[in-house]
Amino acid sequence: MSADLLVKGGRVVSAAGARATDILVQGGRVAALGQDLVPPPGCPVLDASGKLVLPGLIDAHVHFREPGLEHKEDLASGSLAAVAGGVTSFLEMPNTRPPTVDPEALAGKLRRAALRARADHAFFLGATAENAERLAEWETLPGCAGVKVFMGASTGSLLVGDDAALERVLRSGKRRVAVHAEDEARLAERRAALARGAPVSVHPQVRDVECALRATRRLLDLAERTGRRVHLLHLSSAEEVALLRERDLGDLVTSEVTPNHLFLAAPGCYAEHGARVQMNPPVREERHREALRQALAEGVITCVGSDHAPHTLAEKARPYPESPSGIPGVQTTLPLLLTAVRDGWLSAAQIVERCVLGPAAANGIRGKGDLAVGVDADLVLVDPRERGPLERERLVSRAGYSPYEGVELAGWPVTTVLRGTIVFDRSEPRGLPLGRPLSFA
Ligand code: DOR
Ligand code: ZN
Repeated sequence: MSADLLVKGGRVVSAAGARATDILVQGGRVAALGQDLVPPPGCPVLDASGKLVLPGLIDAHVHFREPGLEHKEDLASGSLAAVAGGVTSFLEMPNTRPPTVDPEALAGKLRRAALRARADHAFFLGATAENAERLAEWETLPGCAGVKVFMGASTGSLLVGDDAALERVLRSGKRRVAVHAEDEARLAERRAALARGAPVSVHPQVRDVECALRATRRLLDLAERTGRRVHLLHLSSAEEVALLRERDLGDLVTSEVTPNHLFLAAPGCYAEHGARVQMNPPVREERHREALRQALAEGVITCVGSDHAPHTLAEKARPYPESPSGIPGVQTTLPLLLTAVRDGWLSAAQIVERCVLGPAAANGIRGKGDLAVGVDADLVLVDPRERGPLERERLVSRAGYSPYEGVELAGWPVTTVLRGTIVFDRSEPRGLPLGRPLSFA
């Protein structure tokens, strides 16, 4: 077989650490790793000297808004932002319009993604009280990322609010279930008590730690009772981390944190950015951020997912609580985590563990993973010399803003390779969109 690409002279980062090695790609997969590999005749060479080479990130939590809310984002613009940020696979959430709650809606998204998505992809089915019994059959459909549950209402109308319905969902099927854990009963009470004209800075008190903690506790109880594996999305508090440590449920429970909960903190972020940093669950005070960072570094939290949730600036300018929750971020996960490496609280190898291996394992993704012979040749080249403040011009999501504008960078993704083909290079997409549906174990 002829070779697709030789990536030469880079410092390859894997879960085992960093080493100087070339990567030969054949048939879209890694065919060989080693120093001073000689390009076979006719094989294109990608010069990676002076660059870090990481496996492409797997972002298992994005909202790309198509169908129905394309003024915020669509599969073309969202997946472009993904590859611009070194993300080569994404799992997309079901709170679109209409929501992805049946096989027809799932098939519709897969059709829309074909020839328009620039990264490999799959789509979550949203659980409801009505479709619970059907999920066991539907979760194995091609291109299905699994089942997502909203225990508390957030953006959109998806909700599985009570334990009886949640238990029916958990007993229907086998794959790990991804869960937004905020307690709907407490949320409803606190929303009703919210004073008119309250500023967005009260958001972490409205959707307080107890909201998150109660739902998380209920979910862990039900996961133990049913034996169903669950994935806790966007942990936001020190208390949830303590609960995870205490319950120590092994592979029954995997978990995620977003860059927003790792890099922003109340009250300062609300003073600086207002509703642009409003999300559910909220960004909380510094002590939570510290606990989340520590849990991520220790592996108590197994994944980073961006929860890329774009809204327009005009929508964000509505008075709280009409301002919508959600922060764009699929492009900035990797650059932010590189600042964590510079600042000494995370290693480059841990980026690979939490952004590639963790999401691949939690979601049972086939063929993707650490750079080794046989895996898909999904790569991102990072230029560690690209420093200076993050500028808005670099952002390609339709949202058009980021709370991280102005952050001092410690490197920037410059070239992204999907299954051996360069799909993004120096601020520009390359070629036609090549994204394909992911497959699952
Ligand atoms: O802040 C959020 N935004 N949290 C969610 O659960 C949904 C998301 C969105 O879709 O905007
Ligand atoms: Zn989300």
